Amino acid sequence: MSRTFTIITPDDWHLHLRDGAMLASVVGNTARRFRRAIVMPNLTPPVTTVSAALAYRERILDAAGVDTPFVPLMTLYLTDNTPAAEIHAAASEPAVQAVKLYPAGATTNSDSGVTDLARCMPALEAMAETGLPLLVHGEVTAPDVDIFDRERRFIDDILEPLSQRLESLKIVVEHITTRDAVDWVRSGRDGIAATITPQHILLNRNALFQGGLRPHVYCLPVLKAEQHREAVAEAAFSGEGRFFLGTDSAPHLRGDKESACGCAGIYSAPAGLELYVEAFDDAGALDRLEAFASLNGPRFYGLPVNEGRVHLREEHWQLPAVMPSGTGGELVPFRAGETIRWAITGVDPQ
Ligand code: NCD
Ligand code: ZN
Repeated sequence: MSRTFTIITPDDWHLHLRDGAMLASVVGNTARRFRRAIVMPNLTPPVTTVSAALAYRERILDAAGVDTPFVPLMTLYLTDNTPAAEIHAAASEPAVQAVKLYPAGATTNSDSGVTDLARCMPALEAMAETGLPLLVHGEVTAPDVDIFDRERRFIDDILEPLSQRLESLKIVVEHITTRDAVDWVRSGRDGIAATITPQHILLNRNALFQGGLRPHVYCLPVLKAEQHREAVAEAAFSGEGRFFLGTDSAPHLRGDKESACGCAGIYSAPAGLELYVEAFDDAGALDRLEAFASLNGPRFYGLPVNEGRVHLREEHWQLPAVMPSGTGGELVPFRAGETIRWAITGVDPQ
């Protein structure tokens, strides 16, 4: 008899759904596995206002279809000019749950991001006051800082001073990749948490160069050395309340990944829950997956825990080598063409 496993329906606390035809192609992967997802605002142009976030939410719900119980939780894209009034409007709109900080130039569609946090103080103070969390892409962008040191430097130079200055600001360090981030989050003051992706649990930086250059495992923050992967994986497997699931699934057209200047982003949504199940199972930590995937996130955000259940069975299935993008090009999922060892067998009513 193959093993089975059931958890409270999980949520994805960091997700890129894109827009238009690509949105329609990718959203079902998440909606079939997760009840809610924090949707990133890095569209072109970015989602900088409550009204843009609500319009994007409608497009997501349309694309997901009337039958899915999927709930997109929207975010605003912080700029140098975000007015405090926009933050107050966001804080009183339940469909908007957080504000995302992209340092300008740090990653995909971050050109309108923040050039200097000092310029954002009115918005950040309004967030601290209203309890709207700040979600952080935690990398400095100075070209002279080694790419593998950018997360640590961001923590030392930006996050630690910010968390001291605004003591009630809730901060999520997104997609953590280093032991330094794990240590900082674990030992930080109240109101600090982190999301963890499947790739940063499963892979170290050797994967980028295994037998040649591997654009489909290139994401930002970039994969790190094994000692960092171990620390990040251990934090996820611990089930500790400050660490929760965020896939950072980030689809890009195959041609944009397999390119002389390939885009950063890993499309993990097609096995977005199963990848974590495999990793937790291999670590003997399946009993802590529910905390990581279904309990810690809602507790941090002050939202109810889901009522449904997702059932899985240890059963092999194969991910397609390529998947439709809706736009003519193809998408290559994480672990394309490979076998996944756990399959979802049922989802109980939410
Ligand atoms: C993300 C994307 O493609 O939007 N890419 C990535 O490598 N994670 C942006 C981001 O979250 O950094
Ligand atoms: Zn992301």
